[in-house]
Amino acid sequence: MSTDFAGRVAVVTGGANGIGRAISLAFAAEGANVAIMDREEGPLGETAEEARRLGVKVLPLVGDMTDKTVVAESFARVKADFGSVDILTNNIGQTARENYSEFYLARPETLEFVVGVSLMTTLMCTRQVVSDMRERKFGKIVSISSDSAMNGDVGTVDYAAAKSGVLGFTRALARELGPFKVNVNAVCPGPTNTRAMQRIPKDAYERARNMIPLGELCEPDDIANAVIFLSSGKSRFITGQTLMVNGGRVFY
Ligand SMILES: NC(=O)c1ccc[n+]([C@@H]2O[C@H](COP(=O)([O-])OP(=O)(O)OC[C@H]3O[C@@H](n4cnc5c(N)ncnc54)[C@H](O)[C@@H]3O)[C@@H](O)[C@H]2O)c1
Repeated sequence: MSTDFAGRVAVVTGGANGIGRAISLAFAAEGANVAIMDREEGPLGETAEEARRLGVKVLPLVGDMTDKTVVAESFARVKADFGSVDILTNNIGQTARENYSEFYLARPETLEFVVGVSLMTTLMCTRQVVSDMRERKFGKIVSISSDSAMNGDVGTVDYAAAKSGVLGFTRALARELGPFKVNVNAVCPGPTNTRAMQRIPKDAYERARNMIPLGELCEPDDIANAVIFLSSGKSRFITGQTLMVNGGRVFY
């Protein structure tokens, strides 16, 4: 696919590992300058170095993006170093992981954590870029949801609620920003080969794989390819949409 990223400024949240890492490297390979925001300093430095080797400018920003001061400072640094943001990928999110439980047992602080990290980060980061995008009449916003939002997996009620929130956010913001030629879309990965999946027991991994018609787990690059498409001029007439990248696990 020939794209149009040379010299563009792309921000990827949670871009040090897994899906976000694949997205950061894909933007760099396409010629975009990339600001990568992540709380894990070591992997962030490694991903930034790998992206730099692709010949673009890279700005690694370490911090917890659930903290609104960190969010504001991080985006201010991007503006000062790179100028206005053209492309934002909201990738941060996670389930309750070790605090996973069925809803009747869920602790209020776990619910707040999951919604904070999987939904609020998307709202807070996007809020930092929309004024400029409106003014410049250009922008691409892609948020990573999950096919759990449609499938409703047992034990992840909080996560499904947050990731469904990302889809509602996408649709409403697409209507607000359409007149300003800003595209807002979402990608829903199915089970994807990242460290989260590698940690689960072998039988659960096999069960996840058996539910996928294409017979294998998604790879981070599969999600990156979808994000690149939705951030490029090739998708100029697509907005408010949800692209399922899940090997057919859930149809929508
Ligand atoms: N892996 C899957 O099977 C799968 C399936 C569906 C959706 N998703 C979604 O895809 C996205 C990426 O998932 P992944 O599997 O690559 O996860 P991951 O844990 O491998 O990577 C997430 C990255 O985000 C960073 N991060 C998390 N919270 C942060 C915070 N508060 N501040 C700054 N950085 C933070 C982490 O340090 C990490 O680098 C998430 O939104 C996840 O919910 C993943």
